[in-house]
Amino acid sequence: MKYKCLLRPHSNGRYQASVIPLALAETELLLGKAGIQAKPEMLEEQGLQWIGFECDGLDERGIGELARSAHVYLVSECRDGGMLMPVRSAETPYLGDDLPYVLKYKGKTNETFTKFIVNLALCASSFSGDEPLKLLDPMCGRGTTLFEAVNRGWNVMGVDVLANDVDEGAKFFKKYLEYHRIKHTVSKKSMTAKGKEAAVVQGFEYACDAAKFKAGDTRTLRMTSMDSGRLHTLGVKKEFHLLATDLPYGVQHGPGGQRGKSLQQMVRDVLPAWRDALLPGGAMALSFNVNTLKLDFVREAMAEAGLKVMVGGAYDGLAHWVEQAITRDVAVAVKE
Ligand SMILES: C[S@@+](CC[C@H](N)C(=O)[O-])C[C@H]1O[C@@H](n2cnc3c(N)ncnc32)[C@H](O)[C@@H]1O
Repeated sequence: MKYKCLLRPHSNGRYQASVIPLALAETELLLGKAGIQAKPEMLEEQGLQWIGFECDGLDERGIGELARSAHVYLVSECRDGGMLMPVRSAETPYLGDDLPYVLKYKGKTNETFTKFIVNLALCASSFSGDEPLKLLDPMCGRGTTLFEAVNRGWNVMGVDVLANDVDEGAKFFKKYLEYHRIKHTVSKKSMTAKGKEAAVVQGFEYACDAAKFKAGDTRTLRMTSMDSGRLHTLGVKKEFHLLATDLPYGVQHGPGGQRGKSLQQMVRDVLPAWRDALLPGGAMALSFNVNTLKLDFVREAMAEAGLKVMVGGAYDGLAHWVEQAITRDVAVAVKE
């Protein structure tokens, strides 16, 4: 059976062109997660960009995995006479499609790209995205990754060294819940390490509808400000299925909170705590600017931290142009 997938358009044509290898890799990995081996290719037809692939047939699982895609907008089956039969578009968001998009600020990670790195971690992990997984973004800024994961119905935690970013992210989430009249509770809890206050965790418990909230079928979002290399001091261990983060680019963000430390040293320092935060079978996807960090370096640092680095096939060739001075790449690793 042949399938054609329509790509989500991006307003910046040069960026759109640069993410085509990412869209191909993502489609291959999502199909692989559903047990379907296929080699997607790029097609240019009717002035539109499509991803084409051939397989024995998409079952519910295959369709479900593709519905998570960051880049694919619509999946359709090729029928006789060139007819296209839509199969399914995107996954239904748990709270609202617009959640990751509304808040705009300098240094925000592109929402589509954020969705992509979450998918990379999911595909490398041993877990199914249909379960309410737990995701950690240890450099969350104002929460783009968290909001993306909230919409999958997952429980999320974000950490950032900049208290102002954490506060702005939490403030926005509260407003979003209130504006959309989503039932929720808010909490603020001081976490202590060895008798000393280590961090204040802002928490939200909510559900996509009132009946679920009443029945206790809720989800949580937590945000706190600290150097995430110290996460273990909060007792965060073997808790998360997935970790996805966009590392500082060295353009707008310095190596945060650790003056005098190189970005390389900071990556080496945080990785042990990030590894410990993952459950066995969990996976992490880290994106970074290749002008400040090299893929080989990040992969070596992950391996030194005892992680199994994913190399070859769809995990290679992910470097892409973002803007002047930023070419981004992604490294993925699994905790065995
Ligand atoms: C590229 S930004 C992430 C932006 C985020 N994805 C968003 O959309 O808002 C990198 C973030 O890493 C944070 N950071 C740098 N070093 C850190 C550390 N040691 N622990 C926690 N956060 C850190 C910076 O404050 C910055 O917000």
